[in-house]
Amino acid sequence: MIFVGEQRMHNKSLPLLWFLLGYTLREPSLYFLRSMLGLSGNACSCRRCIIHLDDEDDSWFMERFNQSFHPLMSRKSSMLSDDTYRWWQWLQAEKSPSNLTIVLDRLFQLIPAEERYVDANPDRCRTCSVVGNSGNLRESRYGSYIDSSDFVIRMNQAPTQGFEKDVGYKTTHHLMYPESAIDLDNSTRLILIPFKTLDLEWIISALTTGDISKTYVPVKSRIKANKDKVLIYNPGFLKYVYDSWLEGHGRYPSTGFLSLMFAVHICDEVKVFGFGADQDGNWHHYWEDNMLRGAFRHTGVHDGDYEYNITLLLADKHKITLYRGG
Ligand SMILES: *[C@@H]1O[C@H](CO)[C@@H](O)[C@H](O)[C@H]1NC(C)=O
Ligand SMILES: *[C@@H]1O[C@H](CO)[C@@H](O)[C@H](O)[C@H]1NC(C)=O
Ligand SMILES: *[C@@H]1O[C@H](CO)[C@@H](O)[C@H](O)[C@H]1NC(C)=O
Ligand SMILES: *[C@@H]1O[C@H](CO)[C@@H](O)[C@H](O)[C@H]1NC(C)=O
Repeated sequence: MIFVGEQRMHNKSLPLLWFLLGYTLREPSLYFLRSMLGLSGNACSCRRCIIHLDDEDDSWFMERFNQSFHPLMSRKSSMLSDDTYRWWQWLQAEKSPSNLTIVLDRLFQLIPAEERYVDANPDRCRTCSVVGNSGNLRESRYGSYIDSSDFVIRMNQAPTQGFEKDVGYKTTHHLMYPESAIDLDNSTRLILIPFKTLDLEWIISALTTGDISKTYVPVKSRIKANKDKVLIYNPGFLKYVYDSWLEGHGRYPSTGFLSLMFAVHICDEVKVFGFGADQDGNWHHYWEDNMLRGAFRHTGVHDGDYEYNITLLLADKHKITLYRGG
């Protein structure tokens, strides 16, 4: 024990000591202190949490993971540093961007502006399935297992209709950008990943007037989605993923990797499906035929090999569970 002093003092300080200890064990932001003190405990109420309080082998993860970055933009967190803004503008080299402050102001009048998913606590167990688009989902029969998570996160063109046995029915969150957009049902949250200011103007337009029909390629001018459930991926978080997790590999992270990082930062338990090649080494989407090999591995802007390597390491460190299909 820490206190070896005289009996009388011990008795008197005991209630205070228990109070402080209880607080230290419960307060989520003190998990560093807890692990420094070697106190075991759980950061969530799942069987295995992403943040381990008592794991000595956690340094690889904790060197990269930074909870002070939040994956989503809110009105409160919509300011970008000059550094982040310049990097973000460079990604797709937008010619004459509109004033971001004004665009965001219009956007947050249309969609919810408050912070979300900042509710990590020891009593929470939020389970998430991240469903990539790999052909390794074919004949996997993962559908009902995928749907058993609280959140089911899909991305880009991912269809469920006709593939339910393998990929599930449920979609709680769907990540996309204007050039990859599809219609959603009323209960799904659309998460827009903006790679330029025009993408933010596009979502406003696509939910209202429909007057933007082209970015660097033609895009859907209107989209079916519930505007009360639209969320915006934070460019600051995008840069953090690129710097801290990809260490500058590729030009910027893929939607798949950004979806995975979204889950790792807001969920307590993450299952990952449909990432990587199929069992024959083909990189195609589950709704396409094998002929289109290489469909998403070498797109020029992403370092798919490096991203997959980090994904494997996350699985290796028991941060996520990877399901590689049948
Ligand atoms: C997390 O990011 C914040 C903001 O950039 C930075 O101040 C802090 O040092 C980082 N924490 C760790 C543990 O890297
Ligand atoms: C953008 O608009 C805001 C608010 O009207 C203004 O304060 C800011 O100077 C503008 N920024 C640029 C780069 O023009
Ligand atoms: C969609 O959900 C919203 C509430 O978020 C509701 O007001 C609206 O009526 C729903 N629309 C349809 C077509 O179900
Ligand atoms: C994968 O990651 C490990 C550990 O960081 C590294 O040693 C290895 O070179 C990486 N491989 C690739 C292909 O990036």
